[in-house]
Amino acid sequence: MPPHQAERDTVLHSWSVPADWDAPTVVGGAGARFFLDDGRSILDFSSQSECCNLGHQHPEVVAAIKAQADRLCYIANAWGAAPRAELAELLLEKSGFSGGRVFFTLGGADANEHAVKFARLAKGMPRGTIVARERSYHGASYAAMALSGDSRTLAQVDPAQHGVIHALPPYAYRCEFGTDTDESCGMAAAAHIGDIVGGHREVVAVLMEPNAGTNGIVAPDSYWPALRTVTAEHDVLLIADEVMSGFGRCGEWFAWQRSGEAGRPDMMTLAKGLTGAHVPLGAVVLSAGVATQLEHKMIFTGLTYCGHPLACAAGVAAVKAYEAGNLIERSRRLGASMLAALQDMQSRHRVIGDVRGGHGLFAVLELVSDRSTREPLAPWPVTAPALKALVRDGLAAGVSFATRGNLVILAPPLVIEEHDVADALTLLDRLLTTHFPAEPEVLSA
Ligand SMILES: Cc1ncc(COP(=O)(O)O)c(C=O)c1O
Repeated sequence: MPPHQAERDTVLHSWSVPADWDAPTVVGGAGARFFLDDGRSILDFSSQSECCNLGHQHPEVVAAIKAQADRLCYIANAWGAAPRAELAELLLEKSGFSGGRVFFTLGGADANEHAVKFARLAKGMPRGTIVARERSYHGASYAAMALSGDSRTLAQVDPAQHGVIHALPPYAYRCEFGTDTDESCGMAAAAHIGDIVGGHREVVAVLMEPNAGTNGIVAPDSYWPALRTVTAEHDVLLIADEVMSGFGRCGEWFAWQRSGEAGRPDMMTLAKGLTGAHVPLGAVVLSAGVATQLEHKMIFTGLTYCGHPLACAAGVAAVKAYEAGNLIERSRRLGASMLAALQDMQSRHRVIGDVRGGHGLFAVLELVSDRSTREPLAPWPVTAPALKALVRDGLAAGVSFATRGNLVILAPPLVIEEHDVADALTLLDRLLTTHFPAEPEVLSA
């Protein structure tokens, strides 16, 4: 059977309807491109699931995986393994969590679940409450679904049973607090968390995405430091889910660093860019304060592959590759020019209601049917047929764009060539004209 047909008939794919699955087979990749079995080369403008931050087949990471495979593929977490220790040291150094510890997981969902376990253990409240928020995504295992405020998965789980409360998001374009600036929306959303925490006795932690996320919320700059202040005032832990926003995606190693020390969380969770997605790996980075609380307690948790040496070796090589390629700074620079190009597009396309992000190579376009009323193009989380057609035509023209509901999520690998960014944005501009024609007048928000 040809591979495409075998895959369609035998594999149950995630986030898809089996009967509708019909994706091409990918046989290779290099830099920001991946290659199809029919010989076509596709520019990856979403880094797959916003995870291939180093592009495809980064040579140093591939070499590190091969070298580690020759030495030692697996040893259980109970034993020591050199790449595990080296990666923990590197992560503590990059985040400035000196005296802290790192717990390695298999990906993002279990990193968040473990961060919750550690918060509860540190606070001595094994079933303590966690405040997360609506329009968030923290993974698709059961507890991670409970943490997520995600319309795709919420029906499958009762957050209350997992000790989770959902707060309103810092969604400045549609601010639920009736404010009129981004910054005041961020402050109001942080104060709202303070009200929730103050009103519940057993809250141990607040877990949130500091910046990039698949639900397309990019918090105003005022939000994260205000959230840090509020959580510290109430003596609850702040956990930054940096699974998507980490490793340069938002112009810093970790997005909270945009606020400097005023944004330092008590724990952060990592995955995706941690190995540039070459091998599955996640992590919880614990501050010295939290680590101290756990120092003499039994850690009753772990998965067989936690801290897998192959994955940790890939992680070490990935961190070194971000550093050697100056990729964090590069993401910040290219993100700023991508944002400027998108804002220019907004001035010409009335379908673009809002442009956000751009702190690094991550930006979101929110499409609307009426810019003056901000009427969504389709009710959330539906993707309008015209937007689906735009993505289809983009792929036919050699660029893979990601969408979610009314959002176009732009997140290419940090190694992407500058001319490739420009070409992809020119194509997007043309596709918007084709699929969302509008009168050629100068538009204002
Ligand atoms: C912010 C965030 N947290 C957690 C996850 C879950 O990570 P994983 O799919 O590795 O479990 C994701 C995945 O998209 C994410 O974007």
